Amino acid sequence: MFQCCLPGALRSWSRRVFSTSALPRLVLGIETSCDETGAAVLDETGRILGESLHSQKETHLETGGIIPLVAQRLHKENISRVVQEALNRSAIEPSELTAVATTVKPGLALSLGIGLDFSLKFVRQHQKPFIPIHHMEAHALTVRMLHPIDFPFLVLLVSGGHSLLALAKGIDEFLLLGQTLDEAAGDTLDKIARRLSLRNHPECGTLSGGQAIERLAKEGDRLAFRFSSPMGQNHDCNFSFAGLRTQITGAINKKEKEEGVEAGQLLSCVKDIAAASQHSVASHLAKRTHRAILFCKSKGFLPEHNPTLIVSGGVASNEYIRQILKIITDSTGLHLLCPPSKFCTDNGVMIAWNGIERLKQGKGILSYTDEVNYEPKAPLGLDITSEVKEAAIKVPKLKLRTDS
Ligand code: KG4
Ligand code: ZN
Repeated sequence: MFQCCLPGALRSWSRRVFSTSALPRLVLGIETSCDETGAAVLDETGRILGESLHSQKETHLETGGIIPLVAQRLHKENISRVVQEALNRSAIEPSELTAVATTVKPGLALSLGIGLDFSLKFVRQHQKPFIPIHHMEAHALTVRMLHPIDFPFLVLLVSGGHSLLALAKGIDEFLLLGQTLDEAAGDTLDKIARRLSLRNHPECGTLSGGQAIERLAKEGDRLAFRFSSPMGQNHDCNFSFAGLRTQITGAINKKEKEEGVEAGQLLSCVKDIAAASQHSVASHLAKRTHRAILFCKSKGFLPEHNPTLIVSGGVASNEYIRQILKIITDSTGLHLLCPPSKFCTDNGVMIAWNGIERLKQGKGILSYTDEVNYEPKAPLGLDITSEVKEAAIKVPKLKLRTDS
C-alpha cells in the first residue's frame, strides 16, 4: 500500500512517482524467483532501455533438476553484475529511476531471498520506492507491454512451477478458475526429458526439458503411443499431470526393457515418446482452457468485442501447444495472444513492466520497506475453482490436430 506520510528524504521521489512532468518514469525490474537472474530498465511506454539475464539452466541440467541451494548461490554470484549490466545498457543512473520492482512471490524461498535482499539494499541506498511483484501477475501482464489489450481477458499461465487459468479483471484483480493439483506442465515435461536422458541427445544438450521435447517431437509420431487423458471425468478447470507422467514413465520402462537400453542411453523411439507426451500435455491444457472459456462466456465475464485468451509462462513458448490452443480459440471465437518466446520464460523485463503498470495506477508502491518479505507460496487472485466445478460444464469434443 502506498504510504502518504513520508519522511522528508522521500518526498522528492513521491513527486516523481505521481508527477505528470515531461520526465519519463523509469522502472528497474529484478527477477530471481526460480533459476533465472534477470534485470531490466523500462520506460512507461514499455520501451526496454537495457536488460540482462543470467540463466542457470545448464547447471541445473547437469545436476538433474534445480537444487535450491545451488540456485541461491548462482543468484548471489550474478545479481550485482546482472543489475549493473541492465543499468549500463540503458545508460540510466540509479538516481534517475522512478522505482524498483522485484519478484517477491511465489517461488523458491532461497532464490526469492537473494533478489529481495539485493533490492532492499538498493532502494535504501538510492532512496527509491519499492514495488513488490507477484511472479504470475507479471507473466499475465507481459502481453500488455506489446499489445494494447484491455481487461478483462482470460489467461493460461504454464511454467515450470505453475499451471493455472484465471480471468484477469485488472492489473491486480484475478479470478482463479483452475490450477494444477499436483505438478506443473513444465515440471512434467522437464521430468520426462530427464527420464529420457535427452541431455545426451546431440540436438538437446543445452535445451530445457520442454524445449528438448518440442525439438524432438517435430520428427516424432504422436500416435505411436497413446496415453489416456488426465481427469477426463472431472468437469472443472484444474490440471493434473502426475498420472500422465506415470503412464509415460511406464511406457519408457517397457521400451527400455525391450531394447536393452541402460541408464543415460537413448531409446530408438525417443522422438515418438516426445511427440506423444507433448500432445497429451497440450490436449489436457486445451480441454481445461476450453471449459474455462465456456464458463466465462456463461457468466458474461468476457467482453463481446475481441474476447482474448493470453497464454504465457515458459511452456507457452511451445509452438505445438500454441497451435492446439488456437483450435480452441478459433472454435469459441476468442483471439489468442502469446508474448514472443523470450518474454514467456522468466526475465527482468516482465517484472519491470509489472512495476510500470502498478506505477501508472499508483498501486502497491512502497516507501517503507521494513516489513516487506518474500512468500514462496502465493495464490493468484480470488479462488473460484469450486464455483467452476459446480457449473460442471461439458466440453464438446474437438479434433485436436495440427498440420505439423
Ligand atoms: O516461466 P519459466 O521460465 O520459469 C518458471 O517460472 O517456472 O518456465 C520454465 C519452464 C520449464 O519447465 C521449461 O521446460 C518450460 O518452461 N519450457 C518449455 C519450452 N521452453 C521452456 N516447455 C515446452 N516447450 C518449450 N519450448
Ligand atoms: Zn515464470
